[in-house]
Amino acid sequence: MAKYRVGLIGAGRKGTQHARAYMMDERVEVVAVADGDPENLALFQQRTGVAAYADYREMLEKQAIDIAAPILPVNANPEVVIGCAEAGVKAIFCEKPISVSLAEVDQMIDVCRSRRIVFAAGDLDVNLPAYQKALQFIGSGELGAVKSISLLGGPGGEMSGGGCQRFTLMRHFAGCAEVAWMMGWVSDDPLSDHDQGGAGYVRFANGIEAFIYGDKDARGRGYEVACEGGVFRSDDNLVGLYRHVEGDGASWDKLEKIEGVLPAGRIYGEPRGYDEQGWKWPGDRNVASCKALIDALQRGEDPPGSGENGRKVLEMAIALRESHRQGCAPVKLPLVDRNLRIIPSPARMYNKKPIFGREKYMDQVLSHKKD
Ligand SMILES: NC(=O)c1ccc[n+]([C@@H]2O[C@H](COP(=O)([O-])OP(=O)(O)OC[C@H]3O[C@@H](n4cnc5c(N)ncnc54)[C@H](O)[C@@H]3O)[C@@H](O)[C@H]2O)c1
Repeated sequence: MAKYRVGLIGAGRKGTQHARAYMMDERVEVVAVADGDPENLALFQQRTGVAAYADYREMLEKQAIDIAAPILPVNANPEVVIGCAEAGVKAIFCEKPISVSLAEVDQMIDVCRSRRIVFAAGDLDVNLPAYQKALQFIGSGELGAVKSISLLGGPGGEMSGGGCQRFTLMRHFAGCAEVAWMMGWVSDDPLSDHDQGGAGYVRFANGIEAFIYGDKDARGRGYEVACEGGVFRSDDNLVGLYRHVEGDGASWDKLEKIEGVLPAGRIYGEPRGYDEQGWKWPGDRNVASCKALIDALQRGEDPPGSGENGRKVLEMAIALRESHRQGCAPVKLPLVDRNLRIIPSPARMYNKKPIFGREKYMDQVLSHKKD
């Protein structure tokens, strides 16, 4: 079977990791790279030997790209994702957060949907085998209905930038139900459009309740998914499934561990060094995320970390802030005002080289491979 042809757009820190994850999957081949930064472009070309372009539109014109991988600062996402879709690729996998405003995301999704393009946004924890197995087990009804989800330690200092990881798992544990309404408050300034921490309550349309802790030390970190017959717990490192002891009802003191369902060990895997070709391991999660995209392309449907998921989690973060702006009142979703936005931190929004300084930045990009 012919391999899917991957075109990387943005050969920076994260783009290099995505490219390496694709290189390790025999169903695809990384055939080209585009980057407006001549130094990053030349380094990637020298490391891989693929065709290199200063402009992604020229790459799409000259190479028959199946999977476009725009791994870019957020401000570039709308224009490039839409450009890739209009050029006729089969799949697009950009990074997270998907964009700044809901209006931009609506447009990105509409263009991809109208062309039946598989669209993913973000190398996400939801793709990790530990979470996928837990979701399957809970989804099969083995623990009875999900009653509540606690997001322990909150979304960190960014509800959109990093928090989208956590909101994604929350909504997947809720069976990807629509959010009916939510209320909450932000950590710093409710009037600011800039990304910040937050806390609150989410009511899903299927009745599941979710609680977002604001204080990172309030009750440890991770997730607790309470079901009728037991519980799933993650501390962001190790995970476990537990069943209420027979006859004790929903006793939270007496739980027995369910063995043999979840993979053993740390969710992100053990640290690994460089491989025999000199590449640094791109991380269990990036490998799993690229695999999820290729699996989805083969099935002709979006992966768990879809563009639609990116839209939902951005909307949740905005709704929580809007609630604060309205005196912590409940806010119904979907939000009517599509111009609402969250501006990610500068290091997500713009190229990192000028922000970090060239020397420090290049040390990081160079560390991906022993050249
Ligand atoms: N999922 C995760 O856990 C995770 C981790 C790190 C970064 N990220 C996300 O990945 C994205 C990129 O981060 P990074 O650290 O690789 O940034 P970076 O600054 O290292 O790389 C960005 C690259 O894109 C290039 N570029 C920018 N605009 C372009 C355009 N229009 N056309 C072609 N090339 C263009 C730049 O020249 C640069 O080489 C960010 O959105 C960030 O939020 C996600």
